[in-house]
Amino acid sequence: MKIEEYVKKWVEGEASEVLEYLAAAIIAEEQGLINVAQALKTIAMEEAMHGAKALVYYGKIKDLKEFIKHRIEEEKEAARVRHEEASHHDEPWKTLFEYTARDEERHQRILEGILRRLEELSK
Ligand SMILES: [Fe+2]
Ligand SMILES: [Fe+2]
Repeated sequence: MKIEEYVKKWVEGEASEVLEYLAAAIIAEEQGLINVAQALKTIAMEEAMHGAKALVYYGKIKDLKEFIKHRIEEEKEAARVRHEEASHHDEPWKTLFEYTARDEERHQRILEGILRRLEELSK
């Protein structure tokens, strides 16, 4: 298999593993199994790092500032869509859409701070 094809499948596989391990961690927390939850979160982060390393080797992030600028727009759009979806759904989805939308807005603000810092450093 060509590396481009393998990297795509690999990264998608790792990303879905991350979410599944974290979902299982949430269930474990709800059941009071805190050590189990912690172990599942650790595995999730290791899976995330496998995919991340593959993306780095593949040259996915060419320029840090450009990446941050792109992510600011993506976070903004994710928040907009999530607020919009919140207005069309009942609980428990409504609260989940709204709470994650606020997280995306917070991510946007964090990234804007990082971008300012990177711009100061490059002066
Ligand atoms: Fe992995
Ligand atoms: Fe986000």
